[in-house]
Amino acid sequence: MSAKRPGLNTRLSHAGRAGTHAHGFVNPPLARGSTVLYPSSAERRRLAAKRMEQELLYGVMGGPNHFALEDVLAEIEGGTRCQIVSSGLAAVTTALLAFLGAGDHCLFPDSVYGPTRLFANTMLKRLGIESEFYPPEIDAAGLAAHLRPATRVLFLESPGSHTFEMQDVPALAAAARARGITVLMDNTWGIHFFQPFAHGVEVSIQALTKYAGGHSDIALGAITTDDAGHFERVRNAVLALGQYASPDDCWLALRGVRTMGVRLARQMDSGIAVAEWLRRQPEVKEVLHPALAGARGHALWRRDYRGACSLFGVVFQPRFPVAATEAMVDALALFGIGASWGGYESLALPSALSITRTAGSGDFGGPLVRLHIGLEDPGDLIAYLDRGLTVLREFPP
Ligand SMILES: Cc1ncc(COP(=O)(O)O)c(C=O)c1O
Repeated sequence: MSAKRPGLNTRLSHAGRAGTHAHGFVNPPLARGSTVLYPSSAERRRLAAKRMEQELLYGVMGGPNHFALEDVLAEIEGGTRCQIVSSGLAAVTTALLAFLGAGDHCLFPDSVYGPTRLFANTMLKRLGIESEFYPPEIDAAGLAAHLRPATRVLFLESPGSHTFEMQDVPALAAAARARGITVLMDNTWGIHFFQPFAHGVEVSIQALTKYAGGHSDIALGAITTDDAGHFERVRNAVLALGQYASPDDCWLALRGVRTMGVRLARQMDSGIAVAEWLRRQPEVKEVLHPALAGARGHALWRRDYRGACSLFGVVFQPRFPVAATEAMVDALALFGIGASWGGYESLALPSALSITRTAGSGDFGGPLVRLHIGLEDPGDLIAYLDRGLTVLREFPP
């Protein structure tokens, strides 16, 4: 009888704990270090050939805390290997540099994370790489019109992290791969709810700064690949760029991932409860949350995702100016006003400053506020939002 694949929470409890990483402890102790001493020149020569392996060669090339975390990420995303880097943005930029060179063309969704757009429009441009932004909800036939002989990378991010457009990942990935184009995806929203490699993605990127960390006190990124060839490209870019993640942050992220399944289950439910409540308020024009029945992108979410994180957008009626939504956010004492997401605490952020568009997407006909729902009791969050709506209605005070 073949063994049934263990469930997500079982895998989150056990992944990355095999082998010698932990020296007998449940968790690998924090291993800080730069120089690694080799017992002999012969051993140094033997190890030098293992740059692609999880071998202790030099601190900057990774150590036990990195390796254990990499094993967890590869497991939960269904990839073959993972490389940990210093931040989510570093995961994006390193992966792009691994697959692009002078003269290449790269496609990004118009909804892409703002700093990724900035990297494309500055650093990639300076390197002679042309970036083009396509409407995120495009279908495969529409995408085909943007593909050129020089297109080397199709970048996906689904849903957008401020405007929550869902992409038809399998269809877009298949269209690109049929032309030999490498498919990269920022899967930070999808975490373990979306299995990128089962949907045609070849290189998956996550900001572990968010729910893996879970406490808003680390910065880390992960690049996970579907096969050895793609991993080698990524690893060579990491080594060439001197990409390095703090072992302290890896150690904290490893603690974080052990409870991530239960945190996310709770945050998903609370997020949906708050989103459903907001949807019923007359001041709200639309809630951008793909897991809500009838919401934009819901059909794709239901087809491809096993769950949802707790980050979503709220579009207010167009009669409210952005300043009114800012006054409302200022009044939400249980919600911090801050970038990033995925911690145990709720956040609210007017989105206007974070949205740049050049392909015609992203206008929802009213001011937009992004909410991240933490581990607080949802009833308390709703009570504060209710008072916030009074501030919105009575603006200017
Ligand atoms: C979708 C997405 N990708 C990448 C990042 C970058 O992560 P980091 O803040 O760790 O650089 C973020 C951060 O907000 C994000 O929202």
